[in-house]
Amino acid sequence: MSDVGAASRAAAPHLKTSLPGPKAKAIIERDGRVVSPSYTRDYPLVIARGEGATVEDVDGNLFLDCTAGIAVTATGHSHPEVVSAIIEQARKFLHMSGTDFYYELQARLGEELSAIAPMKGPHRSFFGNSGTEAVEAALKLAKYYTKRHNIIAFLGAFHGRSMGSLSATASKVTQRKGFAPFVPGTYHAPFADCYRCPVNLTPDSCAAECLDFIEHQLFVHLVSPDEVAAVLVEPIQGEGGYIVPPDVFLQRLRALTSKHGILLIADEVQSGMGRTGKMFAIEHVGVEPDIVAIAKGIASGLPLGIATAPATVMSWPPGTHASTFGGNPVACAAALTTIRLLRDSLMKNAETVGAHMLAGTKALMEKHPIVGDVRGRGLMIGIELVRDRGTKERATTERNALVQECFRRGLLVLGAGRNAIRLSPPLVLTTKQADTAIEILDRALAAIGQ
Ligand SMILES: Cc1ncc(COP(=O)(O)O)c(C=O)c1O
Repeated sequence: MSDVGAASRAAAPHLKTSLPGPKAKAIIERDGRVVSPSYTRDYPLVIARGEGATVEDVDGNLFLDCTAGIAVTATGHSHPEVVSAIIEQARKFLHMSGTDFYYELQARLGEELSAIAPMKGPHRSFFGNSGTEAVEAALKLAKYYTKRHNIIAFLGAFHGRSMGSLSATASKVTQRKGFAPFVPGTYHAPFADCYRCPVNLTPDSCAAECLDFIEHQLFVHLVSPDEVAAVLVEPIQGEGGYIVPPDVFLQRLRALTSKHGILLIADEVQSGMGRTGKMFAIEHVGVEPDIVAIAKGIASGLPLGIATAPATVMSWPPGTHASTFGGNPVACAAALTTIRLLRDSLMKNAETVGAHMLAGTKALMEKHPIVGDVRGRGLMIGIELVRDRGTKERATTERNALVQECFRRGLLVLGAGRNAIRLSPPLVLTTKQADTAIEILDRALAAIGQ
């Protein structure tokens, strides 16, 4: 692909072989013998290289990528400036462990994070390697700081798969089955899914009454609020179905947590780093969290997970928490370049191309009754499929078929929740590429309707 550059980008998707092609097939067979069967590969994509929002597979097929490797490659696949920063740092040193030694890059990234953090500073940041580590750090910090031991999360939430974050995760039961017992003192409340309101209201008459469950059920029957360390929330639920709560939900949640001295942790692992048109999704509703968990898009594909908090909160002493690889210098270099590119242009691109894509995706509802709901912010768009718009019966089989149909047509998308698909392309997506994606979705929806 790099040999044909812009021409190939314009051409994607372009399929040369049936899928999977012969080389992809051979690799998938080898993989099937040796790689953990716990992974969830929906279709047989074997990437050879990527550029921008285009992915080339090992058989030379070009795909338009609306997954960004699960919302990770924020600046596009192998952005040349990110790659240069990685190479430059790799030549100097690969590792020294920022937990036991110093390097300027980690300090500089801390400063940059402080400049973009969605709450007042001064801040401090903890560095790990993944989303789940960012969440674990946030949970541990909240417990340590408040000297309280309970956590409240939301039904439908995904926070990761290590034991603390998995205890808060309440997305798919497969993710939890077989792994009990979970961390004691983890409670769940209904999330504000306005398409399927848990308290049967409509968004126009709603004052986030779903939060009454916390105040009038949890705090009355199960847990005293003065023993709750934190409420952990995704400002837009990701794996749960790209569900955008009404503004009042996060605003009321902030008021409720402040009232009881409970910390509010925003899990921005998926919704953060410019994807929604602002650096963090919580900024859309004017709410300041106490701790923000960051990963995925922060380093454009290199592993990095971060918990950022005001210095007054992140005041734990040496030895309380650390991670050998956390804040790896190469990942820090990639993150610094990513943040610069997001601020310079890509956050704005996510806003404008995202608005265009959301409108185009909503227009599909006129032609395809199976599309029950389209929602999103920026380039974080969810499409929920239903068998009947009245009953909202979940069209899970049809959703799975749509993901496959898109792949067969050269468009990479992923499912989210039980019956939605998500569009989470690299933030370099052009308007033309957005239109191509919508055209393919249109044809794929028609195909599954036949
Ligand atoms: C909101 C959210 N939090 C946490 C995680 C866990 O991240 P990781 O898979 O990097 O551990 C994810 C992953 O999808 C996520 O979407």
